[in-house]
Amino acid sequence: MRKVTLGTSGEKVSALCLGAMYFGTRNDAASSYALLDQYVAAGGSFIDTANIYAHWVPGFQGGESETVLGQWMRERGNRNDLFIASKVGFNYPGVGRGLSARQILTECDRSLQRLGIETIDLYYAHVDDFQTPLEETLEAFDRLVQTGKVRYIAASNFMAWRLEKARWTSRTNGWAEYCCIQQRYSYLRGKRGASFDPQLEASDELVQYCRAERVTLLAYSALLGGMYTRRDRDPGSQYHGPDSNARLAELNAVAAETGSTPNQVVLAWMLAQGVLPLIAGSTHEQLAENIGALKIALSDDQVARLNAAGA
Ligand SMILES: NC(=O)c1ccc[n+]([C@@H]2O[C@H](COP(=O)([O-])OP(=O)(O)OC[C@H]3O[C@@H](n4cnc5c(N)ncnc54)[C@H](OP(=O)(O)O)[C@@H]3O)[C@@H](O)[C@H]2O)c1
Repeated sequence: MRKVTLGTSGEKVSALCLGAMYFGTRNDAASSYALLDQYVAAGGSFIDTANIYAHWVPGFQGGESETVLGQWMRERGNRNDLFIASKVGFNYPGVGRGLSARQILTECDRSLQRLGIETIDLYYAHVDDFQTPLEETLEAFDRLVQTGKVRYIAASNFMAWRLEKARWTSRTNGWAEYCCIQQRYSYLRGKRGASFDPQLEASDELVQYCRAERVTLLAYSALLGGMYTRRDRDPGSQYHGPDSNARLAELNAVAAETGSTPNQVVLAWMLAQGVLPLIAGSTHEQLAENIGALKIALSDDQVARLNAAGA
């Protein structure tokens, strides 16, 4: 699998990151192992989890994704071949929401323990916290970097101005800076004023900021749960309307021209513009289709048409 530079870290990572959100919960250990093996066999090494995954699945508490990922790494003996990302900041049973120093330091230790590793390669602030002073949050993240518990730090679900303010705060204090941002981002775009609370969709401003500052945008929910090809999936009323209809028509046209699937065109469109998509799937076929997006080369004209489509 080809590699790309991860924002301002300078690190080379897989061009498609594997989302492990439902590993250990909706996907039992055996199917999680199979999907992880499949991704690694395709040359992938960038895996995304979080302390809270996936506490909202009935019967689970959170931490299951990190635990199953840790067990798999131990059994395969492959930790040193991987680039592991985790996150802190959202609430889950027994832990409140926020980015206080205490929360960051305690939750990092718990994640390291569940993963069974000494260092998290990329550690995200999972959601912004307006109550805790930025200095407190960023000094704590820097302490994790200085003590070797974390290599790089990143933001998720941040507004562009908050990301810039946080990066400026780190820079002026000589602390580690957020090197990239993970945001909700797909080919369809939410209607003006649409809310995905507590998630944040990447705004045009954020996309532009990332390009200008070489901060990689990582796209989560890139395939909107499979709705580009599945009649059983609705992306939500935030996406209903003429803009989406026009974009779906163009997407399907480009898919037909390139002999690929709409899902693959969405991912290839992101890759062509320097966006790093997270891919997820619960079956071998889904993951194979998504990884297959790397083989699709869109022409400049096709990218331009996809960009121009819509109201
Ligand atoms: N930072 C954040 O706040 C945040 C939020 C959400 C997610 N994430 C990260 O992003 C990752 C991906 O998020 P997501 O699950 O929302 O992504 P997604 O790509 O929108 O949805 C994945 C689901 O779509 C369906 N799917 C995937 N590929 C398909 C294909 N080729 N054909 C048909 N259906 C397909 C599958 O549904 P079924 O399994 O039901 O078949 C799959 O589980 C997560 O694992 C997590 O690591 C981060």
